[in-house]
Amino acid sequence: MSPQQKALILPEKRGDFEVGSRRIPSPGAGQLLVKVQSAALNPIDYKIKDTGAVVTHYPAVLGMDIAGVVEALGEGVQNFRKGDRFFTRFAPVCIGSTLVYRLAHGKRNNDFTAFQQYTLTVASFTAKIPSNESFDSAATIPTGLDTALVGLYGNHYGAGITPPWTKSAAIHESKKPIAILGGSSSVGSYAIQLARLSQFYPIITTASPRNEELVRDYGATHFFDRNLSGKQLLAAIRKVTRGPIRVVYDAISLPETQSVGWELLADNGTLVLTLPASVEEHEGKGRKTIQTFGNPHTPENEELGRNSWARVEKWLSDGTIQPNYYEVLPNGLEGIIGGLERMRLGQVSGTKLVAHPQETQ
Ligand SMILES: NC(=O)c1ccc[n+]([C@@H]2O[C@H](COP(=O)([O-])OP(=O)(O)OC[C@H]3O[C@@H](n4cnc5c(N)ncnc54)[C@H](OP(=O)(O)O)[C@@H]3O)[C@@H](O)[C@H]2O)c1
Repeated sequence: MSPQQKALILPEKRGDFEVGSRRIPSPGAGQLLVKVQSAALNPIDYKIKDTGAVVTHYPAVLGMDIAGVVEALGEGVQNFRKGDRFFTRFAPVCIGSTLVYRLAHGKRNNDFTAFQQYTLTVASFTAKIPSNESFDSAATIPTGLDTALVGLYGNHYGAGITPPWTKSAAIHESKKPIAILGGSSSVGSYAIQLARLSQFYPIITTASPRNEELVRDYGATHFFDRNLSGKQLLAAIRKVTRGPIRVVYDAISLPETQSVGWELLADNGTLVLTLPASVEEHEGKGRKTIQTFGNPHTPENEELGRNSWARVEKWLSDGTIQPNYYEVLPNGLEGIIGGLERMRLGQVSGTKLVAHPQETQ
């Protein structure tokens, strides 16, 4: 019998999660087998469970963000050794912006997800964890950072800003204003940090007052209470800058945040959204919305993904990028069930929830 592991399994569409057993996959060419030490939770995980969206085949194992150690290397993998500490992102096959949860690299996609004790990844979108960071803090990074990156710098799924590692980047964005709605969310927190790296100024954000210090620490220069009415927010934000705000990144993308973002936006500006648009681009003025798709594994994002993943280890070591604060859930994989419910209820604030699959009873 092939070696078995514990996994958090969603047996059917809109079903209930249960901890079960499945075989440990073996890595193919260019792949790594990871012993998962920390798996981070994302809103998409509870949305898949609630709506049945995205996943086409069941039983399914979910989870996007993975930190662990290399357990085994597939053929042709260089730059990694057994025991290396690293983090990575679920590597699905994508068709356009649709994740195909069925087959990846000749294997079922369930072999590549986070909510299990062992998983596979492709070596190209990985980064080693610097000694100053833990598995838990590293697990908070992949989806949030990728989504912020693609939304800002992507030409297809983003505002097309010149990336900060390009020589001419500073000339493009220095001292230009940006608004990031939802700065204490995971995506928003990384968008703020990248905006700082790109030398935007001022960096305007919204969050709950308890998270003001947190978002300022990430690099926001102006904070506004997200509980203000749309009208109040617009009035307050407009006092900060006379410069046209040509990029608004709405990390939350609820109808009410989208209307604020759309109203703030200058002519010819881009409103980057993490969810489908609810505002209509009918008014002219050259403004547009773009729904980002933060996955580096889709062809449109691949080059950007390679460039950024190659820099993440250094960004972490030198403090350019600060991981999210995290809370470790109890009871290994079982703890994910309650964690996703808290996320669904909006009870998680300025924090990423992580689980330790190896602690599963
Ligand atoms: N398109 C893509 O590729 C992609 C990728 C990743 C995520 N997403 C989506 O992006 C959204 C954010 O994901 P995430 O992981 O960053 O979420 P998250 O970290 O779980 O979001 C929690 C945060 O949202 C903030 N928030 C909630 N309502 C808000 C509002 N009206 N104004 C300002 N802040 C508000 C809360 O702030 P306070 O506690 O400070 O109030 C809280 O800190 C989700 O809908 C997710 O599904 C899309």
